[in-house]
Amino acid sequence: MKTFLLSFLLALTTPLAAQDLHLIPQPQQVVVNPTKFNIVLTARTPISCSPELLPQAEYLHDIVQRSTGYDLPILVGGKKGIRLSLNPQQGKAEGYHLVSSHKGISIEGNDVAGVFYGIQTLLQLLPPQIYSDRLQPHVRWSVPAVEITDAPNRPFRGLMFDVVRYFYDIDYMKRCVDLMAHYKLNKLQFHLIDDSGWRLEIKKYPRLTEIGAWAGPKENRLGGFYTQEEMRDLIDYAAVRGVEIIPEIEFPAHILSAVAAYPHLSCAGEQREVPTQHFISRDLLCVGQESTMEFLKNVLEEVVALFPSPIINIGGDEAVYTRWESCPHCQALMKKEGIEKAGDLQGWLTNQVATMMKKHDKTCMGWEEIIMRGKVSEPVVAVIWHEVKDTIVAKETGHKAVLAPATHLYFDFPEHQIAGEVQAATWMPPISLEKAYAMPINDYSPSSTVLGVMACYWSDQFIHGHKLQELPQLDENRSERYAEYLLFPRLLALSELGWLSEADRSWKRFSASNDYNYRRLDALDVPYRLPQPRIVKHVENADHSTTFTLEPSMTDGTVVYTTDGTYPTKHSPRYTGPVTAEDADLFRAATLHGRRVSLPAILPPDYSAYAQLGEFVGKKREQYKEVTSLTETYDLSGRIRGNGQYTLSFIDRLGGPSVFSKIEVWKRNELIATLVNKKDAPRQTFEVNNFEAGTPFTLKVERSVQPSLQEMLIFLHFVKP
Ligand code: ACM
Ligand code: ZN
Repeated sequence: MKTFLLSFLLALTTPLAAQDLHLIPQPQQVVVNPTKFNIVLTARTPISCSPELLPQAEYLHDIVQRSTGYDLPILVGGKKGIRLSLNPQQGKAEGYHLVSSHKGISIEGNDVAGVFYGIQTLLQLLPPQIYSDRLQPHVRWSVPAVEITDAPNRPFRGLMFDVVRYFYDIDYMKRCVDLMAHYKLNKLQFHLIDDSGWRLEIKKYPRLTEIGAWAGPKENRLGGFYTQEEMRDLIDYAAVRGVEIIPEIEFPAHILSAVAAYPHLSCAGEQREVPTQHFISRDLLCVGQESTMEFLKNVLEEVVALFPSPIINIGGDEAVYTRWESCPHCQALMKKEGIEKAGDLQGWLTNQVATMMKKHDKTCMGWEEIIMRGKVSEPVVAVIWHEVKDTIVAKETGHKAVLAPATHLYFDFPEHQIAGEVQAATWMPPISLEKAYAMPINDYSPSSTVLGVMACYWSDQFIHGHKLQELPQLDENRSERYAEYLLFPRLLALSELGWLSEADRSWKRFSASNDYNYRRLDALDVPYRLPQPRIVKHVENADHSTTFTLEPSMTDGTVVYTTDGTYPTKHSPRYTGPVTAEDADLFRAATLHGRRVSLPAILPPDYSAYAQLGEFVGKKREQYKEVTSLTETYDLSGRIRGNGQYTLSFIDRLGGPSVFSKIEVWKRNELIATLVNKKDAPRQTFEVNNFEAGTPFTLKVERSVQPSLQEMLIFLHFVKP
């Protein structure tokens, strides 16, 4: 008892329920002991471990030291305090058993990764400030009395990170690994090669990084690469944290950076430059030449020697085969191998490389195309990036799959489509936190074809040289901050997709713990996307104003609002109860959290009652005290998309009717329609001839209105070509 009192304190507490711990991912089994005591770390709490767990003990020591200031003694071979140990008989890989009681804290791992995940759970049991890298002097570092038995449901819980379109340095990648580790993610697919850059030193081919890693004029070139030594450092750093770095060496497409360095590698054989803007090249590696295959073999041998991962990712996405179809070398190879379709040559290539990698005890992984282009007899791992249901292809062809569908796990898409949303990918609809969380796994196979899940962070929006938009909700303009803004909080959803079975997932529990988890992210200095408040009720009043009732989405936040369509700021009024806005469309409510303001919650205007009138063009709402003449212009560009007949509809939703004196349609500086003297003019038809794409069209209206609240809506309908 005496020794124990030296190393821990006890603190009175109210017993908690498992969900009050807000652990992410939710462990398989949590028993909260109904004791009235919490265990409190002191500066004298030792960390005991066996010698092989010393790196994990040091990891824990360092994290605890930054925020608590405690320099916890590490006792190798000791049995006191926080005890880390291995018990391989425990059960599943990466599993652990954690007990915190008046006897201390014990973390028993099934393997080293299991011990590490026990440490992560212990960190989440401590107050959120434990993650801070600054001293937090006023916190009591208490741990509730619990017993947790835990293991992941799937072995592959990954993040693909694109360092080509924007070069994130090694220090940043270490932070990325740290953040992944907190959420028990274990695979980093490192997208090192693409058209816009070659980011890994290959000693045999120095031009790959001398030329291929840089874009733009020499004096202010942009880009960068990792030396093999830097990469080794990152690999070791990640290994302590249970994160395996899987190098992605992309071919046969997305290879322009290599071609810029060694033009003979491509079918066209022409000199190319590393692009300064986002660009997807049609160039392909010329696999019909022996020298290309020799190049691949040499590059991959250096890669294999550098990366301990049993998986080597060979990319393989988005090849367009026209170059192979017209290349004499590639055509000759196809003839020799009896391959009819150029696309099937990719299957041949995958097989060649997979066989080559097998000799090094490595398995090839790549985007789904590697199992969808010709027969591949060597077992590979396919990353399904289009449709979840395509895991069936992996099952039927005898391969394994990792799910990274763009529909749910491409975190380079924004979460919503609110005006002011971060500039992000647009070729698919936004992916809300809830949508990501609801991703189906579709593992058709009892022997588990689906190894797990992976989110993709593409950085093409942030390519070098692009000035990012200034975002009020992020007070700086660095791609590193944007990456985290896009990744969080969705990475927490990813964490549960891989760790839990589908049956154990619960949006209700998960979303209820978000609020608490934001405190952890705050302590980690992660600029996650702040959730906007929820509009829970809106009622239109007799005077056509609307009263809004809101619910905050963060208990640590304040709700601020405006009623004039401007973006709420920290100076805007605070929400304390229902608010009335004269014009519902101009109501904006945001979460204020520290110095940051979320995107505004808005009530999307509902024009469904006017759907038959065509596209919404514009709206004018105002209170007039006397008869008033108005001159207005509305933009029709983009709404007129070809020659034909169009109908404009003018709806006086309130007040009215407007008396029109002029209605004109202009094509740049040319008046193409004059529709005048229509007293009551709800509909006006006009013709467009000689349409040219990109030409601006403008609608000019002159009308007079009576004294009252007026609201006019304008719609445009394309009648016939
Ligand atoms: C991909 O998004 N091209 C894999
Ligand atoms: Zn070729």
